[in-house]
Amino acid sequence: MSTSNHRPIPTTGRLATRMTRAEQAELHAGLQPWLLTPGFLQAGKPVEIELGIGNGLALYARAKANPAMNFIGSEIYLNGLRTLLTQLENHPIPNLRIYPEDGRTLFTNGLIAPGTIARTLILFPDPWPKTSHHKRRIIQPEVLASITTALKTGGELWVVTDWPSYAYNTIANLFQTKGLQLAPVNLAAADCKPSARLSEREDTLVGPQLLTVAPEWWQPTKYQQKAAIAGRNPWFINAIKTV
Ligand SMILES: C[S@@+](CC[C@H](N)C(=O)[O-])C[C@H]1O[C@@H](n2cnc3c(N)ncnc32)[C@H](O)[C@@H]1O
Repeated sequence: MSTSNHRPIPTTGRLATRMTRAEQAELHAGLQPWLLTPGFLQAGKPVEIELGIGNGLALYARAKANPAMNFIGSEIYLNGLRTLLTQLENHPIPNLRIYPEDGRTLFTNGLIAPGTIARTLILFPDPWPKTSHHKRRIIQPEVLASITTALKTGGELWVVTDWPSYAYNTIANLFQTKGLQLAPVNLAAADCKPSARLSEREDTLVGPQLLTVAPEWWQPTKYQQKAAIAGRNPWFINAIKTV
């Protein structure tokens, strides 16, 4: 994210699929009661933020399973938000709020006090596999820096991906992020990096098997299921805020 007037590089390709303007307006009206407010952040509960929730059902499942924590989901794809809204309307829960905008701005718009967030998740981010598109990946040094500022000491960042080059790039970026300490298992995995240049056929590379253990609070996501059908396993990468 840049703080200049330049528009940030988009990190995803589609904002809605087959939705009329009237349906989009109806969705925005329906979202109103569920939008993130400053009070939600200041409620005294540990806060988790997920960037790019897709259909939001994994976020919903985590929130339902852990009422002692508050959960915030960011998404710009309207069809995904509609799925989550339907779920919330049919089965309301008090500890989930939606930020229906570019999630990167949540860490730069002044809403979040530094050192207050318990956990941030980026799950199956758009892979942008072509080298010329890597600049569109959401994991960038400046985004990691702003997430790190928001995390409390001991707070966690989790990035889960089924894409080998994304996993390696994430580990390399996290390794260089001040204030974040990669979990030892990630450092071991970094040693597994293949020396061959990552190519267009990168999805065929064998990944670091050490990274396949999910945290105990894990709920499967839609893109995890898609990846499993395609024969790709997720890698769970995590780092802890140290200071
Ligand atoms: C590949 S999907 C994964 C969705 C979900 N995490 C899952 O695992 O099923 C990536 C999602 O991230 C969203 N996304 C990409 N960039 C984003 C951003 N800057 N802010 C919020 N959402 C974003 C996309 O719209 C898309 O729904």
